[in-house]
Amino acid sequence: MRSPLDLDQATMQRLGHRVADIVAAHLATIRDEPVIASVPRAQLNAVFPAEAPRAPTEFESLLSVLQESVFPYHAREPHPGFLAYVPSCPTFPALLGDWLATGYNFFAGVWPVAAGPNQLEMVVLEWFRAWMGMPKGSGGLLTSGGSAANLTAVVAARHAAVDRGADITRLTLYTSAQAHSSVVRAAWIAGISRTNVRTVAMDDSLRMTAGELEDAINADRSAGFEPFLVVASAGTTNTGSVDHLHPIADLCENERLWLHVDAAYAGFAALTAEGKAMLSGIERADSLTLDPHKWLFVPFECGCLMARDPELLASAFRIMPEYLRDVEPAEEEVNFADRGEQLTRYSRALKVWLSVGYFGTDAIAAAIQDAMERARLMQSLVEASPDFEILSPAQFGIVCFRARPPDADEGFLDALNEGINRRIVSEGRFLISSTRLRGAFSLRICTLGFRTTHDDIRELFATIKGALAAEAGSPPLVGRIAFRQ
Ligand SMILES: Cc1ncc(COP(=O)(O)O)c(C=O)c1O
Repeated sequence: MRSPLDLDQATMQRLGHRVADIVAAHLATIRDEPVIASVPRAQLNAVFPAEAPRAPTEFESLLSVLQESVFPYHAREPHPGFLAYVPSCPTFPALLGDWLATGYNFFAGVWPVAAGPNQLEMVVLEWFRAWMGMPKGSGGLLTSGGSAANLTAVVAARHAAVDRGADITRLTLYTSAQAHSSVVRAAWIAGISRTNVRTVAMDDSLRMTAGELEDAINADRSAGFEPFLVVASAGTTNTGSVDHLHPIADLCENERLWLHVDAAYAGFAALTAEGKAMLSGIERADSLTLDPHKWLFVPFECGCLMARDPELLASAFRIMPEYLRDVEPAEEEVNFADRGEQLTRYSRALKVWLSVGYFGTDAIAAAIQDAMERARLMQSLVEASPDFEILSPAQFGIVCFRARPPDADEGFLDALNEGINRRIVSEGRFLISSTRLRGAFSLRICTLGFRTTHDDIRELFATIKGALAAEAGSPPLVGRIAFRQ
């Protein structure tokens, strides 16, 4: 007798088409939706009964609940007005790749049970290796995201150090204050003492320098610590800055330290000539973080860790329990579960392969290049206005700036710009975000999404100017700011 959980083909097709239609309609009309909407939890509590239903519910009724009470309340990352944080703007073929991967439910942890999907992961990793200019033989795995990739690298580097006889309590890790927070969290998780995570000073452009790094390493060695890992950034989240990679790589070679480079979103700029030049030095990393769910236009979740010597990953993670004796890989095959923390993992390679294959790298490189042009356009608009100033110029897709009307009282600038940020977000047409740079509150935009046009950027800047006018005229700022109409 057929299980009631086993739907017949016609039903599966009907339900599947409904879902595909909903997503296609959503993406085709996304520009008309608000970029973000939310709702108080209490209001949603009323919609969802606490108990799971014992009896079946019509698929259409379930979809109605989703459409009325779930889908409206989120920030639409693929929206042309989403310029906050690091947007994820997936292509439709990439979404379909995810659906196929989950539809087949491949177990991509070990080679023998999913040779096809695992081969696809090898193919995609080899593309990434070549794009980044890492030496042949480098390899790694696709992860849930950049945080997981950073964690995998830190654990592998820690294992290599302890394997060489280092005392884990004396291990010190070096990174900059602009590094992504997942780097420090990775150190914590990997058992590196919180007091042994060093924040190396940066230059005026917020880049970690080899000189300051060397001083920190020497001071630690003299005090009996064991430096083991440097985490450099190639495209920081805050400003897009790239640490001084070549001198840092030289130093790491001399000091025999593992160099991990976090190029989570910016790494894919290597597909363009301009980006490749900006990223020069990433190819020297012992390990590299990439996030295809950022600038390679695939949906969450997809990160990547690439290691110069993938055996160092296997050495840290490989474990072969008796119940997995049947799934030993042959020579040249890889059990991806041996390279990270995840045994059961789905095939993230499908979405990357399908999207890159469908469009080709020329189109993807052009989309990346255009994102950089949009950031430069924003910079030029800011520079042309006497009421604004750049706090960090366009790097990859990120620009930081603030309103600074002539004669504005410096002490009020933070409040003024916080007000502008709030106003922009509350209007629902654009979502931007903020950060602090050298102590100052900064507006920040990130232009990665391929739906954003140059006209959108012009409209955003006009909206920001409007928000400045409204803020400058509202208490407590009125009279404090000489504002030109
Ligand atoms: C430079 C950098 N590294 C790491 C991460 C963390 O990646 P994820 O959010 O995919 O875990 C981010 C996220 O924005 C990032 O910008």
